[in-house]
Amino acid sequence: MMIDDSRARDAPLPSTNELEHIRYALDQSAIVATTDVRGRITYVNDKFCQISGYTREELLGRDHRVVNSGYHGRAFIRDLWQTIARGQVWRGELRNRTKHGTFYWVDTTIVPFLDEGGRPWQYMAIRYDITDRKRNEQRLREQATLASLGEMAAVVAHEVRNPLAGIRGGVQLLESYLPAEPAEAHEFVRAICDRIDSLNVAITDLLEFARLREPRMGPVDVTVLISDVVKSLQYDKALTGVTWQVRAPESVTLLADVDQLRLLFTNLAINAAQAAGATGHVWIEATQGDGACVVTVSDDGPGLPPEALARAFEPFFTTKTRGAGLGLPTARRIVEAHHGEISVHDRDGGGASARVVLPLRTLAD
Ligand SMILES: Nc1ncnc2c1ncn2[C@@H]1O[C@H](COP(=O)(O)OP(=O)(O)OP(=O)(O)O)[C@@H](O)[C@H]1O
Ligand SMILES: [Mg+2]
Repeated sequence: MMIDDSRARDAPLPSTNELEHIRYALDQSAIVATTDVRGRITYVNDKFCQISGYTREELLGRDHRVVNSGYHGRAFIRDLWQTIARGQVWRGELRNRTKHGTFYWVDTTIVPFLDEGGRPWQYMAIRYDITDRKRNEQRLREQATLASLGEMAAVVAHEVRNPLAGIRGGVQLLESYLPAEPAEAHEFVRAICDRIDSLNVAITDLLEFARLREPRMGPVDVTVLISDVVKSLQYDKALTGVTWQVRAPESVTLLADVDQLRLLFTNLAINAAQAAGATGHVWIEATQGDGACVVTVSDDGPGLPPEALARAFEPFFTTKTRGAGLGLPTARRIVEAHHGEISVHDRDGGGASARVVLPLRTLAD
């Protein structure tokens, strides 16, 4: 869209004083920055500093890419630059990155200021924070995914589970007609039953995720539970070589659903162990205070890939060749059913960390 400046030409130019007022009004409402034609920042207002987490000194003179989150594709960014370089206004929604590595969304208008030859000499970006709206939109999308997953799970349960039980029964019956020799034939039958059992486990996993039942609250000692989870994973062949460390007070008791918490910590611990790899470390730390129990599961793996930082909790989002992308969404549903909070982030010294906050009293007091 071209800027229609014909009216601006006819109208008397605002005085310096008026310009100051306009600038003041703009600064009060919007996140404002100007850059030169090469994208180097020449001005930022306070709101820009607040939302980006950088000081003015850290921003001035830097390339605008300092807040680029790497989320938008090349074609998208190229279109933005080509539009403003032609002297046209660009409008769109951008995801930016703060100094601390978190993301924020801004509704953005970039206005080129043109010289007498019609060439841009400066760009002004006027933005509004729309992070909350974006977050809600994402939640709605995820809920819709979960709803259809729930329907699919019900179909799977009906169409697959029951026949599977029938097949298993039939195979066992057949085995009873087999003579004792050759023993190999009996091994075959056992192998078939094992496969059927692991299929059943896979279906149960899916059902558990899609139709998480209401938590059954009872006293749970988190310290004991974490040690149990670690013990069971220590013998997991897929995770051999990982060094586990648990740091927790003697006992932290809260009201929770013990099976759901076990699934929660197992999912986080497996993620950490998979990231840490065969020679890595996983630390699980529990602390208690302020009416809440905080559990962090940290590793010294490569940290979260940039895409995962924003999408880790999306159902089916995975960067692993054999991952389902259901570990963290399941974890979040469990934590929310317990009125708690969960987040994942990169650690300063490398590696990633998942943090769970669970209120000590989750029953209606
Ligand atoms: N500790 C971690 N270190 C690095 N990346 C992680 C870590 N935890 C999660 N992630 C990232 O988040 C993604 C989603 O995790 P999630 O547990 O939901 O699914 P998954 O582990 O890929 O598959 P599933 O848990 O269903 O087997 C992972 O694929 C990975 O990219
Ligand atoms: Mg996982």
